[in-house]
Amino acid sequence: MKLLVTGGAGYIGSHVVRAAEAAGHSCVVVDNLSTGLVKRISCPIVELELASPDSVSLLARLMREHKFDSVIHLAARKQVGESVQKPEEYFLENLGGLGNLLLAMREVGLKSLVFSSSAATYGMPDVDLVSEDYPGVPINPYGQTKLIGELMVKNAEVWGLKGVNLRYFNVAGAGASDLADTAALNLIPIAINAIKAGKAPVVFGTDYPTPDGSCIRDYVHVEDLALAHLAAVDYLVGEGQQFRTFNVGTGVGASVIEVLAALKVASGNDFEVSIGERRAGDPPRLVADVSRIEQVLGFRTKHDLASIVQSAWDAS
Ligand SMILES: NC(=O)c1ccc[n+]([C@@H]2O[C@H](COP(=O)([O-])OP(=O)(O)OC[C@H]3O[C@@H](n4cnc5c(N)ncnc54)[C@H](O)[C@@H]3O)[C@@H](O)[C@H]2O)c1
Repeated sequence: MKLLVTGGAGYIGSHVVRAAEAAGHSCVVVDNLSTGLVKRISCPIVELELASPDSVSLLARLMREHKFDSVIHLAARKQVGESVQKPEEYFLENLGGLGNLLLAMREVGLKSLVFSSSAATYGMPDVDLVSEDYPGVPINPYGQTKLIGELMVKNAEVWGLKGVNLRYFNVAGAGASDLADTAALNLIPIAINAIKAGKAPVVFGTDYPTPDGSCIRDYVHVEDLALAHLAAVDYLVGEGQQFRTFNVGTGVGASVIEVLAALKVASGNDFEVSIGERRAGDPPRLVADVSRIEQVLGFRTKHDLASIVQSAWDAS
């Protein structure tokens, strides 16, 4: 198949491109290179700001030229804290970019789209396993852009779009050292940077209602996540139903303290850990119910926490 991958020069996008190429597909990437790196990919790349007014005609021309089978839309800003400080930029870029992409797809009749969504759409769920039907309310502008983006994809059913929203849980690890997450916005890369700087990684809160008191998350290996995109594309171009939303996680939670213990093993370094105050907006537990993606797409993750942490450490 021929795939248009927006944000394909980014951390997750470059893993998607590599997995797609390994499966025999060909890709063209569109990316504004704000955080993406050209060196992560070897397929053709078009440098383009999706939220710019002229992107609809440029995208439509690209789509006519390549006759893509599907689009995988990952391009977005993703920093929760920044989204609180600059909500307008997040709405303009994340949703304006998606709107332009949908306009171009409608214009050329390209009707298959996988959209990068996030567990941030759930806000502060108070259940052990969060299913896609949980009535979550995102608590920051970043999560709001993802929930509204999902609705934009759903609304495009009116002109025949078949869309899949993938709600990623905590993405981590690396498939190769040149594809590592360089942003250091999440626990594992932040902790690795701290260890390498000789500092103690911080556990924010040890008084949560969890077995060891630290927050529990569902860590999914970026290589597994990349394969979930290919399963979603297969579903869409096959006999797929219109519009589905799937969690992408492992269904298994790991606490911050457990992640740092795994990192001690991976790094061979018995580093000190420092205990800090809780951060606002951190749910105690956020773990995916993965039954829908297993049943409908037949998709299962392969990597466990040790493998995720080891690959992140090796790529750092
Ligand atoms: N990393 C995570 O843990 C995580 C979790 C849930 C959802 N997501 C979503 O996954 C997607 C990819 O995330 P990532 O971790 O690879 O981030 P990333 O910053 O590494 O990748 C984003 C890519 O999109 C490009 N981009 C951003 N805005 C653009 C725009 N307006 N026009 C064109 N290109 C643009 C960037 O240059 C970059 O290459 C994002 O939509 C993000 O919200 C990520």
